[in-house]
Amino acid sequence: MGAGTHAGHGHGHVHDKGHGHGEEDVDWEAMADYIEQEGEMRIPFAEEAAAWLRGLLLEGGCGPEIARRLLDVGSGPGVYTALLAREFPQAEVVAVDGTPALLERARARAEREGVGGRVATLEAQLPDDFGRLGSADVIWTSHVVHHIGDQQAALDALAASVRPGGLLAVVERGLAPRYLPRDIGFGRPGLPARLEALTEDWFSAMRAGLPGHTRSVEDWPAMLARAGLTPAGTRSFLTELPAPLGETARSHLHARLSRERASFEEELDEEDRATLDALLDEEAPTGIMHRPDAFYLTATTVHTGRAS
Ligand SMILES: C[S@@+](CC[C@H](N)C(=O)[O-])C[C@H]1O[C@@H](n2cnc3c(N)ncnc32)[C@H](O)[C@@H]1O
Repeated sequence: MGAGTHAGHGHGHVHDKGHGHGEEDVDWEAMADYIEQEGEMRIPFAEEAAAWLRGLLLEGGCGPEIARRLLDVGSGPGVYTALLAREFPQAEVVAVDGTPALLERARARAEREGVGGRVATLEAQLPDDFGRLGSADVIWTSHVVHHIGDQQAALDALAASVRPGGLLAVVERGLAPRYLPRDIGFGRPGLPARLEALTEDWFSAMRAGLPGHTRSVEDWPAMLARAGLTPAGTRSFLTELPAPLGETARSHLHARLSRERASFEEELDEEDRATLDALLDEEAPTGIMHRPDAFYLTATTVHTGRAS
C-alpha cells in the first residue's frame, strides 16, 4: 500500500465515515504488521538515505554530530525511527504519529534495538498538532504528507520546525514495486501494471476526500522552496530483492495482493480476479508463496530542503 509507494498504503482499509464526503478513515492500527514488514524490507534504502543526510548536514556546516533532535513524523511502527537513532548516535529521535498503538510499537522496537534511551514518542494529530512538534535538526517524514489535505501547508509547518542548517527530508513516491514477470503463464499479461493504475485512482480519491484537500502540482523540490527551504537534493534509492524470494517478502506480497483483491473487487475483470485468486493460493506452486520467478523491485524517493 504504499508504504508506495506506499502508493496505495491504506487502500482496502479506507471507509467512508458516512459524512458524505469520503473523508479518509484508514485503520492504521490494522495495517501495523503490513507497514512494519514493508519498512523492514526497505531498511537498506533508509540506511543509504541516512548516510546521504549526514553528508548533507556536513555540507551545510551543521555536522551530524551536532544534530541533537530528530523527528520521524508519521513514524508508524518506528522502523525508521530506530534506524535514525542508530545512524545519529548522539541524537534524541522523536517518533510522531496519530495512532497510539503504532507509537507503542515504535517504543518496543527502539527498546529491542538498544536505542530506547534516545527514542521518545509524541502522539499528534496532523495538521492540528504541527505546533507541538518543537524544533529539530532533521525532520524525516515518510509517506505521510500525502495523507494531509493541504500538502504545501504541511511542508510550511514542518519547515518552520527545522533549525538553521538543518534538513527536512520528505519521502514521497518513487516507483511502485514490481514483483512478477509480465507474463506469468496464465491470465492476461500485465496485471501488476493494471493494479498500479487502479491504485493511482484510489490514491486520488483518497486525497480528494481528505479534510482541507488542496490540489497542487506535486513538485516536491518546488514545494520545499515555497516552504522557505533551500532544496538540497532529491535522490531515489532502489530496493531490489532478486528471485527466489525469501519467506518474509513472499508473505508481504501475499498480503499486498490480498488487499488489492479486496479493494478492487469491482474494478477488476473476471479474468484478473481469477489470476489474483490463483496467485493467492497458498498451496499452488504457481502461487506467490512458491513461484520461483517472484522478485521485489522498487524505488523510494527522498526530497530534501535545508533551513537557513
Ligand atoms: C503510510 S504510514 C507510514 C509509516 C512510516 N513512516 C513508513 O514510511 O513506513 C503513515 C503513518 O502516518 C500516520 N498518519 C497518517 N495520517 C496522519 C495524521 N493526519 N496525523 C498523524 N499521523 C498520521 C499513520 O498513523 C501511519 O502511521
